[in-house]
Amino acid sequence: MSRRFSVLVEGLRKQYGNRVVLSIDSLALDSGVSYALIGSNGSGKTTLLRALAGTSKPNVGVIDVSGVVTRNQVRVGYMPQKPYVFGYSVEKNVAMAIASAGLPKQEVDRRVADALSAVGMGELARARGNTLSGGEAQRVALARILVSDLDVMLLDEPTASMDIAGTLQVESALADYRLRTGCLMLVATHAPAQAKRIADQAIMLHEGRLVEQGAVGEVLEHPVTEEGRSFLSYWQL
Ligand SMILES: Nc1ncnc2c1ncn2[C@@H]1O[C@H](COP(=O)(O)OP(=O)(O)OP(=O)(O)O)[C@@H](O)[C@H]1O
Ligand SMILES: [Mg+2]
Repeated sequence: MSRRFSVLVEGLRKQYGNRVVLSIDSLALDSGVSYALIGSNGSGKTTLLRALAGTSKPNVGVIDVSGVVTRNQVRVGYMPQKPYVFGYSVEKNVAMAIASAGLPKQEVDRRVADALSAVGMGELARARGNTLSGGEAQRVALARILVSDLDVMLLDEPTASMDIAGTLQVESALADYRLRTGCLMLVATHAPAQAKRIADQAIMLHEGRLVEQGAVGEVLEHPVTEEGRSFLSYWQL
């Protein structure tokens, strides 16, 4: 099991010019918990994930870690909304994710094969990354996450291009990974049924602000804010 810790966000703010696109006073995320990040287009989901992943610097605010690990020890995996797959083989794309871990080749090969099989890409292991369909590219990007040893998994609409069979397959692979590692998972999604399947908690953003947070069923069925009710009125469970 991975180490117990919390990710603490305080006074986080991101703006472009005069426009504030993310403004979160306080948010705590705990290891072992799966969070669905929901909200309309432009509400700030990707901006929050990128700030947590460290790929985009907030204008102000602090992201810290408390628990048995320090911030630098927390292993974070981030799958962007439009994942990039390199032109070389699918298996090399996945192996690259653990290239710096110093594992023996046999162990790398085993992990890569397991990760590709978990996302249903075993048969395309030798295919070139630049020949893949959108859904296949997303599966490879997820295999790069599953092959790694992570404490925090940040996934930005990971199944947006997948068919339902593929979606259920990778959801099950993610659930297995969580069970095995006890990692913290934060997943942006536009699918309410998916939020219910994969998450314990839901976090809803509206115009960059946190408007709902709680057990996923509670948030989806009994939103407490006007913004939450309005957004969820379009969501059919
Ligand atoms: N580089 C940028 N320059 C200016 N505005 C930006 C930039 N990046 C993001 N934004 C704006 O920030 C807001 C939040 O964007 P973000 O990508 O976080 O939304 P989102 O909730 O992920 O939306 P979606 O559901 O469409 O993925 C949007 O209105 C977007 O136009
Ligand atoms: Mg987004």
